Amino acid sequence: MRNPPERYLQTLREHFAQAPQWFGPQSAGQPSARGTATGAALTTYQDGKETAFQRWFHFKEAFSPEFVTAAAGSLGYRPRHVIDPFGGSGTSAITSQLLSVDATTVEVNPFLADVIKAKVSPLTADKLRSAAADFQAQLAGMRPDLARLDHLPATFVEAPEKDRWIFPRDVAERLAQYLTCIESIEDTDVLRFFRVVLGAVLVDCSNVYVNGKGRRYRGAWKQNQPSPERLDEFFGRQFNTSFEDVLRFEDRPRSRVTVINGDSRSALEQLQEEADLIVFSPPYPNSFDYTDIYNVELWVLGYIGSSADNHALRNQTLRSHVQIRRGYDGPVGESATLKRTLTALGEKRQALWATDIPEMVGAYFRDLERILEQSRRLLVPNGRIMMVVGDSRYANVRIEVATILAELARSMGFGRVTTKEVRQMRSSAQQGGEYQLSESIVELGH
Ligand SMILES: C[S@@+](CC[C@H](N)C(=O)[O-])C[C@H]1O[C@@H](n2cnc3c(N)ncnc32)[C@H](O)[C@@H]1O
Repeated sequence: MRNPPERYLQTLREHFAQAPQWFGPQSAGQPSARGTATGAALTTYQDGKETAFQRWFHFKEAFSPEFVTAAAGSLGYRPRHVIDPFGGSGTSAITSQLLSVDATTVEVNPFLADVIKAKVSPLTADKLRSAAADFQAQLAGMRPDLARLDHLPATFVEAPEKDRWIFPRDVAERLAQYLTCIESIEDTDVLRFFRVVLGAVLVDCSNVYVNGKGRRYRGAWKQNQPSPERLDEFFGRQFNTSFEDVLRFEDRPRSRVTVINGDSRSALEQLQEEADLIVFSPPYPNSFDYTDIYNVELWVLGYIGSSADNHALRNQTLRSHVQIRRGYDGPVGESATLKRTLTALGEKRQALWATDIPEMVGAYFRDLERILEQSRRLLVPNGRIMMVVGDSRYANVRIEVATILAELARSMGFGRVTTKEVRQMRSSAQQGGEYQLSESIVELGH
């Protein structure tokens, strides 16, 4: 194999002289008073240790490539096809490609689906180098047109009557220029690559930061707002970081990777090709909606253009949160632990911060049961399903996700069911912060 996984897994910090030159001090003009342009060699990724492809977009919930290679290795034979119904940033897709294994991945968030597509697409460094030159030439002559961002919610762009905004006006103008130039790129793979690069730096070039609890304004944000030069610097640096991985792995095996942007609860029903390994980490039932976390990217890059779009996207997500009202049904299989948990939650309903949390928890397991039903249909006789799942806690009632899934899997007829705790996670501040919650691997086979 030309690119063995060890090579992929090793940290990539080399300086590639072939990388495009981005906005140095000469081309970006003088750094503004609030700018951070340093003029440093932008072809080198300076933030230290990171893994190839993982560093294209910071996705905290990604599992490690080692997990995917270990899961594939545990089969005892070379897999032909791997499925991941919750693609996220595409760890299983790109790792499968590097292992020369075909893969199918489903991801509901259209921006994340593009992150995955960009990683596995047949881009070449030559194409990107010439696109970067065209892009810079076009950008230099582009007039800023804020109308380009008219679809954004009111809090996004600075205006005199507002007291909060995510992007200062001059950064928004620069963003509008970037978006117009990106949209004029003809080659879809190249266009997607540029869009993902811009998505990767958006929050760092804004007045907010995003964590598990959502979006927050930075401390003293009004005094320390980002500048257009910061956007130029971060874009150029991120472009070259991702470019390095394209260049270094250009001759990797091109196995067939299918990326489906959709809801895996229904998308899996359409799949016909059997898989040797079905590996995934679903959202945990902790009321955290990924649509909120990646909201800035979804709006600015135009994946959603109205609150109706936002609502429609949320409707397609796993029922792991109560951000929107939906119908709730419970699993059809048997789980004594789930029954006990739902009774305990029902008794504490008044103490819960949202009264429909008990129903949400039941619906969460129905959604995962659907995923397991389809996974069972698609799994070859000696194949494996590997899930990374995490517990949650509401009003002191612990949701033992691995135990419940194991019970449901047995009741569905899976012959091989094992669970293994791999990590202790701290619960949310809302839950007292000090409780330890388990993260586990659930492994299933016929
Ligand atoms: C824990 S993350 C997966 C991380 C992934 N293993 C990686 O390495 O990047 C869960 C993902 O499931 C996605 N998701 C939520 N509901 C979904 C659905 N109904 N269908 C497909 N994906 C969904 C979320 O958008 C999120 O990206």
